[in-house]
Amino acid sequence: MKSILEYATNVVENVSRLNGHTSADFQILAAAKHVTIPWAQPIARMYGDGMYSIADMVPALAQHDRKEREYAFASWYERMVSGAPGASFWGDTGMIGLYHAAADVNNGFVESLGSKVKAAFLDLCIKQAVPMEVAYAFHRTFDVALAVMQECYMTALLDGAAQIGINDRLLSRIRVVQIRKTIEEARSSLPVIEWSDSLSTNVTEVDVQHRKLIDIINALRAAGPKGGEAMRRIMKELTDYTVFHFGFEEKMLSDNGYPEYPEHKRAHDKLVAQVGQLNNEVQVGKASVTVDLFKFLRSWLNNHIRGTDRRYSSFLNGKGIH
Ligand SMILES: [Fe+2]
Ligand SMILES: [Fe+2]
Repeated sequence: MKSILEYATNVVENVSRLNGHTSADFQILAAAKHVTIPWAQPIARMYGDGMYSIADMVPALAQHDRKEREYAFASWYERMVSGAPGASFWGDTGMIGLYHAAADVNNGFVESLGSKVKAAFLDLCIKQAVPMEVAYAFHRTFDVALAVMQECYMTALLDGAAQIGINDRLLSRIRVVQIRKTIEEARSSLPVIEWSDSLSTNVTEVDVQHRKLIDIINALRAAGPKGGEAMRRIMKELTDYTVFHFGFEEKMLSDNGYPEYPEHKRAHDKLVAQVGQLNNEVQVGKASVTVDLFKFLRSWLNNHIRGTDRRYSSFLNGKGIH
């Protein structure tokens, strides 16, 4: 890492552009410092409570005296709310991120404790009738500080990787290839698509059938990465059920004189052709249970239900069909 101050300042600039933090925040904080500096003790105690409630998850904490940690936090907090934190403040904040990385303090814990600190500060502002703009200024500045800590944490890990001989090209390859693979693997442990009310068409029987389609697609995933016989069977079921469901919808729409029927029918025909072709490939062993297949099925179902199907809801509801 070049200069931590330079690095942290760069993070501050980027995050500030997003969350609106400027040096004006420090002026606002400075004007209220006679009230907010004395809050350092209660807020630090609360921070200590939170931190040591997770001590069993962070072994490194056991080596530190709690009072010392609270004191360090309080002085960092005082610098910030004084409105004149000094030229090295962001660099020192970045150092906290490096310590976190060394001690394996999970960034999620940092974020959660940060939320508690911000809530406590807001609470005190309300109780002591401190203007809300002080709370906003504190929140923006504190969020920038959290971003600095987290970015430095990540850089420390990547720098560590570089130290053991992983060069820049390899690092960017890891990002592109390995992390993408990790994302795919992680995704494969989740349902492909889950029913939620946002998918409802307000027509009970249609919702029942859509749920069934979702169940079949999730069952296909559960058939395992190897696929095999179970996959062929479920893929065939998906194809048959799709044809059945589309037929049901088409009859309902044409019986009721739905004006967009021709477009809807065309959309169905296209999807039936697609799912039919996929089924053929699966049956002859050309396609396997891949991420691409599920990506296709998810967007297929999502887009059709959310887009095309929901357009007929109000029309059918108007005809008394629910
Ligand atoms: Fe449908
Ligand atoms: Fe449809």
